Amino acid sequence: MIIRSLYLMPALAALFAAGPVHAAVDWGSVPGKDVELFYPGQSSFEWAMTAGDMSGATAFRAEGKDCGVCHIGEEKDMGAHIVGGKARSFKTGEKPSIEPSPIAGKPASISATVKFANDGTNLMVHIDFKEGTQPNAKQDPAFATKVTVMFSAAKVAEFNRMGCWSACHDDASAMAGSGGATRTKYLPRTHAKLTRQGGGDALKPADELAKLKADGYFLEYWQARVNQGAPAQAASGTVFDKRTETKPSPVAAEATFANGAWSVTLTRKMAGGADAVSFASGGKYQVGIAIHSGYTAQRFHYVSFERSLVLDSGATDFVAVKK
Ligand code: HEC
Repeated sequence: MIIRSLYLMPALAALFAAGPVHAAVDWGSVPGKDVELFYPGQSSFEWAMTAGDMSGATAFRAEGKDCGVCHIGEEKDMGAHIVGGKARSFKTGEKPSIEPSPIAGKPASISATVKFANDGTNLMVHIDFKEGTQPNAKQDPAFATKVTVMFSAAKVAEFNRMGCWSACHDDASAMAGSGGATRTKYLPRTHAKLTRQGGGDALKPADELAKLKADGYFLEYWQARVNQGAPAQAASGTVFDKRTETKPSPVAAEATFANGAWSVTLTRKMAGGADAVSFASGGKYQVGIAIHSGYTAQRFHYVSFERSLVLDSGATDFVAVKK
């Protein structure tokens, strides 16, 4: 009887599991890399492209220097500069605050260890992190923490070079140029005109948008929404002219919490349908990672700089090893 029920268990678990069914990966055997996520305040695409606001803008435009070239390694200090909402002092002088509504007591950054793997059918990403003591911001009462990975098939030039900032505009919800309007993330080339305040609501003509999309100019995001003591919920979607959630989500999310640390795994089939990134052995991808902690929503998250990914083997930041 005991043997019989043990035998049935995996089959039953597979039947009731949400999303794709896949073999469990021994994450202890997968090499991880540290990624520092920092609190970015209202630093938007347009802000970062304006030399008066962010002095690296000139080297980014003229010398082809990507954000991570200058900033990977100093994220902790950047977060500490920004999170408290005070003016920021540099060797070169003082710069104004880029956080008009600071959350009291908010930690400045989160250190995460990130691993990717694939089994020939599924791509999996595993993220271990401690979020520290997070005040409750009461912006998203449903979820204490949300862990998001954004992907592209390396066909969004802005995402290749600046990661999440390609989708974060000055006129998005709660950003400096929003004027109280609600706007999700979007990619710059979907909009008819970009100003220092963002792209507004005027889009490119439909045929141009269709061409961009067909050329792979979109991002896909996978998100785990987690509360301690409850199963993780998965959400996913795309960012193009706006953020659009895919329902039902093809992504599965699992999360455990122990000794102050979260372990989160997101999984999706490598083959992508319409409006989804297709992952294949040897293929090159770009990723960006974000964590919302302390019941936050919208821009009040921690973000990474841009990272590259390849499946199986290659010389990128991350390799999704074959398991
Ligand atoms: C050539 C190097 C360089 C590049 C490339 C660069 N930056 Fe910067 N960044 C700086 C410097 C220097 C500062 C310090 C403040 C200043 O001088 O404006 C800074 C400041 C910042 C800050 C505020 C940090 C703080 O401590 O307050 C953020 C956020 C930022 N950059 C984001 C970006 C993003 C996003 C990109 C890519 C679009 C980028 N940077 C590209 C050099 C660079």
